Amino acid sequence: MTISDREVTASRLLRASAAHSYDPEVEIDWDAPLTDGHWFVPPHRSSLYGTSLWEGLSHEQRVTLTRHEVASIASLGVWFETILMQLLIRDYYRQDPTAAHAQYALTEIADECRHSVMFGRMIDKLGTPVYGMDPVNQALGKWIAATATGPRMYAAILIAEEILDALQREASTDERVQPLVRMVSRIHVVEEARHVRFAREELRRQVLAAGKRRLAFDRLVIARSAYLIGARLVSPQVYAAVGIEAAAGHRAARANPHHQRTLRWAGRRVVEFLSELDLIGGPGLALWRRSGLL
Ligand SMILES: [Fe+2]
Ligand SMILES: [Fe+2]
Repeated sequence: MTISDREVTASRLLRASAAHSYDPEVEIDWDAPLTDGHWFVPPHRSSLYGTSLWEGLSHEQRVTLTRHEVASIASLGVWFETILMQLLIRDYYRQDPTAAHAQYALTEIADECRHSVMFGRMIDKLGTPVYGMDPVNQALGKWIAATATGPRMYAAILIAEEILDALQREASTDERVQPLVRMVSRIHVVEEARHVRFAREELRRQVLAAGKRRLAFDRLVIARSAYLIGARLVSPQVYAAVGIEAAAGHRAARANPHHQRTLRWAGRRVVEFLSELDLIGGPGLALWRRSGLL
């Protein structure tokens, strides 16, 4: 791929952004009450669905669990977007501001700014805690935000974006799901489709430009990112909301074949793409297996 291909894609994405961008402050009626009888995540996507712990919960408790699960996913979304914005702005700093590619990077940051406000408002509306990252992953995120470039930067971005995309795409069309969650998901899916396109093309270019040693190191960082996303999509803390101890709930979810299927299903497109670019393998393979995404 040449520089001009890069500019062609960026120009196209800039036009698409101008035509289809949403301001959640305007598009969403934040004063509307939540509706009764709706799930917050499709029930079959709940991390405990089908387990004996799930069988022990009342219908109301199951709905409450999904309320906390969607809050956990949105919390991970905000955390991740904050890292992503830092990566993109650092990348932009080195670029020519008249280039479409640079301008699209800024446009994507603008999208993510709105998304993080939207997720924050949604968590507030759900009345749940913000499910923050544990200290080890918090430190890892800080390190990635401060240092990641090239293949490991774009691969980490893609893993998070594509997994969220699969989950939100499904939720946005499921009528059993709370209208607020569906609307937030719909807005996010439309805008993220452009980000995925941008990251996929950029990742391909960055892999071609990277040396062998660089790629070996990046494979390991990518695997650790995949592990984080797979294992922390649902925070262990959510289970307390339905009276289940965090460690017990987390263990049951990790062993749950339904949840394992959900992770593989959500990860399948990005796993296929990263395999095609030979970014999955080496010493990081064990982390990929533990991520549940393979
Ligand atoms: Fe986003
Ligand atoms: Fe994004």
